[in-house]
Amino acid sequence: MRLTAAEQRMLDGGEGPAKQKAMSGLVQLGRAFGAERMVEIGYAHIHAGMALYLHDVELMEDLADLGATMAVPSSVNIANADTVNWQATGAPESLARLQQRAADAQHRLGAACTFTCTPYWAGHWPTWNTHMTSIESTVTIFCNSVLGARSNRDGFFAVYAGITGRYPLFGYHLDENRRGTHLVRVDTPLRSVTDFSALGFHVGRIVGEGVPVFEGFERRPSLDELDALGAALATSGGVALFVVPGVTPPYATAAQAFGGRVPDAAVDARRADLDAVYDYFCTRGDGAFDIVHVGCPHASFEEMKEYGRLLDGKRIAAGMELWVTTSRPVRRMAEEAGIVRVLEAAGAKVISDTCPISCHFARTVSPDPALGVVPPPLRAIVVDSAKQAKYVRDMIRCDTLLTGTAEAIETALTGRFVRHGRAA
Ligand code: F3S
Repeated sequence: MRLTAAEQRMLDGGEGPAKQKAMSGLVQLGRAFGAERMVEIGYAHIHAGMALYLHDVELMEDLADLGATMAVPSSVNIANADTVNWQATGAPESLARLQQRAADAQHRLGAACTFTCTPYWAGHWPTWNTHMTSIESTVTIFCNSVLGARSNRDGFFAVYAGITGRYPLFGYHLDENRRGTHLVRVDTPLRSVTDFSALGFHVGRIVGEGVPVFEGFERRPSLDELDALGAALATSGGVALFVVPGVTPPYATAAQAFGGRVPDAAVDARRADLDAVYDYFCTRGDGAFDIVHVGCPHASFEEMKEYGRLLDGKRIAAGMELWVTTSRPVRRMAEEAGIVRVLEAAGAKVISDTCPISCHFARTVSPDPALGVVPPPLRAIVVDSAKQAKYVRDMIRCDTLLTGTAEAIETALTGRFVRHGRAA
């Protein structure tokens, strides 16, 4: 790789051990992917330091001890416990305390400790052509597809990129990889945010790591709808970029998005395809469930308003558990607007920093025994997100009941599962 004098100085240790370690990792990454040079980045969404693993938290502390600081504006991805309200999820205090240690390390690193998968709702909004890095696929696809920033689906390297302000130039940082590959014809009205999630899950399964270009929306999708679409595309497939002409910079038309290339394939999305996704994630025949969850990806302020509207003056059924997950900054805005009061008066639990599959419920992890983490036995979780549904099934290993947001909340109010499209 060709390095600038400043990058070479980092690699040689002239900027201290933290930058040297980080640049060394990035050079290896760049070589592995055939990058010719580095590019300066403007934003990093980085690893949290996950409290289910003591060593993972220590990894972030070690970087801070080495003197590492973020060279660019940085936000922090979702964590394993609500650091303030951990009792609401049944997490042991030991887990929350360890997650707080990770927060302390993040503060020393100079990252905004958002602990969220939707940092954009918390003010991190990279603009068109900003090279960036993200450990979270939902962030990568939203920033690429809605904001026109340039990001790969990264792992821990996002931390190294944040420390150096550099990233190897490959993948979605290059124009040639930002062209459409599949034309998606949406042939059904989309009635809810969850319909966008089901659409994304359907299309992601077909296009894999392609770049789907969407046609046929009845209107310009909202930011929440685009967020749901992207999160699901990145879950069933390896999609990092989708194009909605007129929304995704710089493409005004589908033809521009394909850049003169013939699409690899055309994909149809009909109502039956979306219904098939709902059916795929409705695996509990008797309709029994333990938790209703909304807020995947972490809810925006607009979504918090919607939950408040649906729950205002009502009370969830006896024995029901309703989780609303959102970032702490959005929670704070919702508190000031009186929305959290409405939700809590209705019996909902407003949870930040984590979500069902990221918290101690996951059965695919091996936490430190000293933490005393015991995943609760769960029959099913009612969800309004195909992404959450997929990972509840894979990681918590219980059944799912996927439905629309209004129906999920009605489920919590009545105590009986309400299928999508059946909200009162
Ligand atoms: Fe975020 Fe958890 Fe969904 S990390 S995208 S709320 S599965």
